[in-house]
Amino acid sequence: MERTRVISEAQLQAQKDICRQIGAYWQEKGVTPLAFVDTYGCQQNEADSERIRGMLRDCGYEMTDTEEGADVIVLNTCAIREHAEQRVFGNVGALVHTKRRHEGQKIFLCGCMMGQDHVAKKIKSSYTHVDGVFNPHQLWRFPELLQSVLKTGKRVFAVEDEPGNIAEGIPVVRQNDLKAWVSIMYGCNNFCSYCIVPYVRGRERSRQPEDIIREVKELIAQGYRDITLLGQNVNSYGRDLGLGIDFADLIGTLAELEGDFWLRFMTSHPKDATKKLFDTMASHDKIAKQFHLPFQSGNDRVLKEMNRRYTSAQYLELVDYGRAVMPGLILTSDVIVGFPGETEEEFEDTIKLIERVRYDALFTFIYSPRRGTPAAEMPDPTPKADKNRRFDKLVATQNRISEEIHRDYIGKTVKVLVDGREGEVLTSRTEGGRLVRFPGEDSLIGQFVEVTITDCTTWSLVGTIK
Ligand code: 5AD
Ligand code: SF4
Repeated sequence: MERTRVISEAQLQAQKDICRQIGAYWQEKGVTPLAFVDTYGCQQNEADSERIRGMLRDCGYEMTDTEEGADVIVLNTCAIREHAEQRVFGNVGALVHTKRRHEGQKIFLCGCMMGQDHVAKKIKSSYTHVDGVFNPHQLWRFPELLQSVLKTGKRVFAVEDEPGNIAEGIPVVRQNDLKAWVSIMYGCNNFCSYCIVPYVRGRERSRQPEDIIREVKELIAQGYRDITLLGQNVNSYGRDLGLGIDFADLIGTLAELEGDFWLRFMTSHPKDATKKLFDTMASHDKIAKQFHLPFQSGNDRVLKEMNRRYTSAQYLELVDYGRAVMPGLILTSDVIVGFPGETEEEFEDTIKLIERVRYDALFTFIYSPRRGTPAAEMPDPTPKADKNRRFDKLVATQNRISEEIHRDYIGKTVKVLVDGREGEVLTSRTEGGRLVRFPGEDSLIGQFVEVTITDCTTWSLVGTIK
């Protein structure tokens, strides 16, 4: 196996020194520079953006929430579907005008889209107002790239491909005072046939358990109450480390830490989710009883073509086990309709699976061909209109189920974490991430409380404090 490249302390220190030099550059000008970081896509990107903000803060930048007048703009992009890419291209195009209105504005693009050669080339040739591009492997070098652009005015393209690295100790500016993301591993080895992620984020590599434990301890001490462990497939955590520690061991250890908090994780691949993990969840109060377990399709032929390496029966067995050891387990999932060659009957297997499992929520996607993936080469005779119709049926089915589950909450008492105020009421989230509004004092913000549910709307619950 390819050894993970660990970015050395000396290399990271060199980046920190560059941050100081950039800070001095702005200080000399007597200017406090402004930075705008915009994130597309998943939580992994959110977590990466927090690190980009951390590096920018160390360079003396203050964050702003608009591209207008920002001295540096960073767009952290997503490549998972074509629609996401089109949005990015549209927004990057519009930045020509923003840049004209603010002399010296520097524009950087990063994230998964920049891990694709053809995208980086297109930016180079057709979006000449973009000053810098870096792929996910080069994120830790952002200060050096920024300095180069500031010093020389020349464009930089840091898009060298590699199996992947780990960089510990990049500064972080978190976006929320209660909820935090902690990446425990990077990359993906699964090569599901439709998915671009393994090509742009490299091979799986796990952070050392002690680094993760230290970070989580610090977060708890700082008052974070809802901590999500992140990875493309957290269930294969530790395999590359050879320490005999798997994901269940890691989360079990974290759940033993002192303090009042919820631990969650995403995402899990069903082929690697273990009964041991469900048992560990069941035996720790601090692990939220919520599981995001993407099934993608309810049909075994389609699952095989997707290279998912489980059958619908194996998937259902896992779900049943999880529910047996954790009654009331909140289950969410991802599903794709219109995979190349999916027939009407095969699609109906997906509907059947949804009816059988009754997810609390589903993330539904229409298949989008991604250049360079095996599925993009498969014949795909189904007309777009048929795929849209399937998609609408899927969404309607899930909406009905979600509403039924929602109504069942009325009369029940649930533990929630209070996270803010909206006019007259406090807002809070259940263990499963459901929004609950109820009247209460500001002093409850940041606390766990018990709320009795009295009513529901389509997307949220209403309650009174117990
Ligand atoms: N087309 C449609 N959906 C996709 N996903 C990943 N790749 C594609 C694609 N090419 C979905 C999967 C995955 C989620 C993050 O995005 O359902 O679990
Ligand atoms: Fe993509 Fe499959 Fe890896 Fe998830 S597990 S990131 S869907 S290749």
